[in-house]
Amino acid sequence: MYLGIDLGTSAIKAVLVDEDQRVLASAETPLGISRPQPGFSEQSPEEWWQATLASIDALKAERPAELSAVRGIALSGQMHGAVLLDRDGAVLRPAILWNDGRSGAECREMEEAWPDLPAVTGNRAMPGFTAPKLLWVRKHEPEIFARTTKVLLPKAYVGYRLTGEMVEEMSDAAGTLWLDTGARDWSDAALAATFMDRSHMPRLIEGNAAAAALKPELAARWGMTRSPILAGGAGDNAAGAIGLGAIRDGAAFVSLGTSGVLWATTARFAPNPASGVHAFCHAIPATWHQMGVILSAASAFGWWSKVAGEAPGDLEARLGPAPAAPAPVLFLPYLSGERTPHNDPAARGAFIGLDHDTSRETLTQAVMEGVAFAFRDCLEALRAAGTRIETADIIGGGSRSRFWTAVTANVLGLPIHRVADGERGGAFGAARLARMAVTGEAPEAICTPPQRLETIAPDAALSSAYAERYARYRALYPALKGVTS
Ligand code: XUL
Repeated sequence: MYLGIDLGTSAIKAVLVDEDQRVLASAETPLGISRPQPGFSEQSPEEWWQATLASIDALKAERPAELSAVRGIALSGQMHGAVLLDRDGAVLRPAILWNDGRSGAECREMEEAWPDLPAVTGNRAMPGFTAPKLLWVRKHEPEIFARTTKVLLPKAYVGYRLTGEMVEEMSDAAGTLWLDTGARDWSDAALAATFMDRSHMPRLIEGNAAAAALKPELAARWGMTRSPILAGGAGDNAAGAIGLGAIRDGAAFVSLGTSGVLWATTARFAPNPASGVHAFCHAIPATWHQMGVILSAASAFGWWSKVAGEAPGDLEARLGPAPAAPAPVLFLPYLSGERTPHNDPAARGAFIGLDHDTSRETLTQAVMEGVAFAFRDCLEALRAAGTRIETADIIGGGSRSRFWTAVTANVLGLPIHRVADGERGGAFGAARLARMAVTGEAPEAICTPPQRLETIAPDAALSSAYAERYARYRALYPALKGVTS
């Protein structure tokens, strides 16, 4: 029996998975988010921990016998967040999250101070990433920086509370900007660029390796009798990839969650920092991945549903199963800035092309199309990095919408597969990593793909109509730069 825990931004989700890879039970505990200033985004590490305890306690209440048989545990985590600890392991300030935009100036300073940054880390410095957050703390909260002896990513902090040991794995570590991503090791030069050194970092392992033993008092609390270990785990996107079986070169998926990701697994370290591609390690050895990341995907639709005063499902239901033609209005989804391809925390959203006939349905369609065009930007950026994507799975809350999936297939010009358990997400992938750490089984044996429920192939006429709209969409960001921000 294996336990996968996803430390998301809106909730902690724990799943119990048996030896046949069936999810026996799951439990979720919501999390709050604090925005103390515009562009800031913080959470309390203690709240993560309490929510983790509550979720596993809930599994115990539902399946005590199965929980007691757990042999391996792993975490999937929201990436990039900075948890600052003092020499006693106490948290020094709220965690600064992946969607926090405060450190734009520090990104520029870091790239200037260390010109090799894109080549070594595989990435541009972006405010979402961890390292520039520490430069911000050094500048604005020097007394806290001075007391910081360790910096952990969110899931490594929860792992520390579970085991008492500070350990990180490659896929999440790559999102700090402190990793030499090709060498899969901390970079002394990267750390020096933020006035830190290796002593500030946790021990590094692979995601499917054992990290440490669960604390005996926690094993006793949950009745676990088989000396469970914690595995390295994965950043949430890498964990999702493990859950989908995306472990071979060229395997791709679109994640239509709060933020959006176009993922491609790569057999080598293949960066394209100029286009805002994220080049990170995968959670299994000698494997990497590229991602295009857009900051507002399903969250853009959530925003529109609030403004329109209608539930997302009702808005979508009026559109039918697939688009007949592109909407006459364009939407830029940069509600909280953008990473790929612009790396611009100040970018903002827009509707363009409104007239007296513009209806709510047109705007609903335009929002979905704007997000799909942003994914097309990601596809072009990945292609420019040498990646060939022929087909992709789709996961995340937005994948429930057939209309949105059809829009995405036509805008990308790719067959898109809706899969069984498209929302099972990172917790399931984490449970697979836990199993590999316990049994030593090969990733190929465990990371099988889910059943494909439906394939939506692009329609030639619609795809070419969307290609024409995409060209107009591409013109908007440079035209509006400086106007909307
Ligand atoms: C990836 C990223 C997001 C978060 C969301 O770079 O920032 O996908 O991991 O949890």
